[in-house]
Amino acid sequence: MFKTDSAERQNSVTVTLDGKSVSLPAGMNLAAALFAMGETISRISPTSHQPCSPHCLMGVCFECMMEIDGLQRQACLTEVQDGMVIDRHLDDDKGAAA
Ligand code: FES
Repeated sequence: MFKTDSAERQNSVTVTLDGKSVSLPAGMNLAAALFAMGETISRISPTSHQPCSPHCLMGVCFECMMEIDGLQRQACLTEVQDGMVIDRHLDDDKGAAA
């Protein structure tokens, strides 16, 4: 869906995504950067308990909310920065819908 060009790959930084170190392009829109690496789920809906994905990529739908450096923030309005800690809490709802 989204691909980075070679210049962006050269300026990559290391972030922590759900406890794992990953490399993302510095300064890129976080939601787009995660899409580019195949990560399409942003969170688990607290009401439907279903996975959500960023939808509008312009700050309107709030489907990209995730914990970024300890705060709930919109990934589509956040630039990738070195050392960023992202937690989508994808496992928090295991068994809730069962
Ligand atoms: S993707 Fe819609 S607010 Fe971020």
